[in-house]
Amino acid sequence: MNNKSDQHSLIQELIESHQSMKGALLPLLHAIQEKIGFIPSDSVGEIAKGLNLSRAEVHGVITYYHFFRAVPAGKHVVQICRAEACQACGANELLALAEKTLGCKSHETSSNGSVTLESAYCLGLCASSPAIQVDDKLHARMSADKLKKILTQLEAA
Ligand code: FES
Repeated sequence: MNNKSDQHSLIQELIESHQSMKGALLPLLHAIQEKIGFIPSDSVGEIAKGLNLSRAEVHGVITYYHFFRAVPAGKHVVQICRAEACQACGANELLALAEKTLGCKSHETSSNGSVTLESAYCLGLCASSPAIQVDDKLHARMSADKLKKILTQLEAA
């Protein structure tokens, strides 16, 4: 969704539908990111007002949870699990390889806009570590060679 006024209307609707909910902030932020793809920074004030919170509280939650994006993601999102089981099986090396291949750091997007690189903290595949997720698809037992191949294909697509 690119149109600012559509985004604004949708955010307003989502605020209204969450207003009466206890502990509404996290579900609301998830709903906004699911519908729009990110949490527009100029919506923080609206969200705060709608939920009777301070801007600082809303901003604090958005920045605390790496899951939330303040800018739109690239065409594809690659998440590398960095929780304990995956770290023990080389997740940090996979992340370093991904950063080098894409030319961007975790939570950034490659310069051609094709891939946003993110860290995840357990994708539920601990027994088959290391794990990554590409958009909605999980990949277990990831190797450097397989990761490089996946990233090269995504970058070229
Ligand atoms: S620790 Fe990586 S999938 Fe659970």
